[in-house]
Amino acid sequence: MAIIEVKQLTKVFGHDAVRALPLLEQGWSKEKIAREAKLTVGVNKAEFSIEEGEIFVVMGLSGSGKSTLVRLLNRLIEPTGGQVLFKGKDVVQMNPEQLREFRRKNIGMVFQKFALFPHRSVLANAEYGLEVQGVEKSKRTRLAMEALELVGLKGWEHHRPDQLSGGMQQRVGLARGLANDPDILLMDEAFSALDPLIRKDMQQELLELQARVKKTIVFITHDLDEALRIGDRIALMKDGVIVQIGSPEEILIQPANKYVERFVEDVDLSKVLTAAHVMRQPEMIRPERGPRVALQLMRDSGVSSLYVADNEMKLQGVITAENAAQALKENRSILEVMQREIPRVRPDTLLNDLFEMMSETHLPVAVVDEGDKLKGIVIKGAVLSALAGNAVPEGGLGS
Ligand SMILES: Nc1ncnc2c1ncn2[C@@H]1O[C@H](COP(=O)(O)OP(=O)(O)OP(=O)(O)O)[C@@H](O)[C@H]1O
Ligand SMILES: [Mg+2]
Repeated sequence: MAIIEVKQLTKVFGHDAVRALPLLEQGWSKEKIAREAKLTVGVNKAEFSIEEGEIFVVMGLSGSGKSTLVRLLNRLIEPTGGQVLFKGKDVVQMNPEQLREFRRKNIGMVFQKFALFPHRSVLANAEYGLEVQGVEKSKRTRLAMEALELVGLKGWEHHRPDQLSGGMQQRVGLARGLANDPDILLMDEAFSALDPLIRKDMQQELLELQARVKKTIVFITHDLDEALRIGDRIALMKDGVIVQIGSPEEILIQPANKYVERFVEDVDLSKVLTAAHVMRQPEMIRPERGPRVALQLMRDSGVSSLYVADNEMKLQGVITAENAAQALKENRSILEVMQREIPRVRPDTLLNDLFEMMSETHLPVAVVDEGDKLKGIVIKGAVLSALAGNAVPEGGLGS
């Protein structure tokens, strides 16, 4: 179920900003509105929904509207137009009391540069959000301690932030965002100030944390690598407009326009895409069928080999047209003549590794799960095509 649904959400900065709404409606660009109406478009009619438990990444160049968009979700910035539905209820229509309640119960926020108070203890920093919400002392200490434990900082609660490494400081910020046990965590460039290696660790930790606590996370970054690593879906922004929303694979393989293309052009696809992305449905046959059926199936579907799999989809082997013809002549079964040695990979095998393997075989590579069940096959052309940045031809974007 969608936890957040955003409709025509718009923010324009400047005097009497609603003037811009009809102009946006007419299709005026951000640049034209700035020039002729002296107004700044922050977000232009954003429209998307976020599923419960999803990590939704907002990406884009500096000034594209990422921070504005995220702050509109909890009305740290007041929208000029549009709706933000939280579980169906419009946040934009909430009165001050309802809005306070919404922020207190449902939303947590983590900022760049940690925003920690240097003279407060780690614990007092983690408590900060609860404190401004007026939560009484013993309760907020308990909640903050739980959050610190969640991010692996148990034992550090009485230290000061400057006694902690950058990664640990960021975790204090994370604990603060998590302390009120929110449904949604908003993270604005939360990892951008970290060293690259620590940053990677934090991304990994966030994924692990997310798997445990199942929060919905809206994560802003201008780093494509980071977006690809942690995003379930990515929204790419330009000049206040969301130009594409999709899974990391969709953004990479099917960029909506030149802007997105330029964003992703330096990505080494072979290290991002996997067998699951390029595999297609194999033509199959059950082992108990005869060679005559095999030949007929090959003719019908225009292929020269069939994958033999039992009724549980467990892969047995491959039978070629020659094998089948031979079986027919010698009155033997498919199982007797098929080839059992087939190159196999798991769905998450990177194209980089797949490619090496394919140079050593003329057969397509079978994609199987842990139980050796056939999930698909990969032919060399599909790998080459995907690496060249083309849309995956058929049965692509498999899972
Ligand atoms: N308070 C404000 N008053 C006027 N204009 C603003 C204000 N805040 C943001 N803007 C403008 O809105 C647009 C979007 O800014 P925003 O801060 O959302 O971008 P961003 O994508 O978060 O950029 P960055 O990556 O640099 O953080 C920019 O043109 C910016 O100048
Ligand atoms: Mg920003």
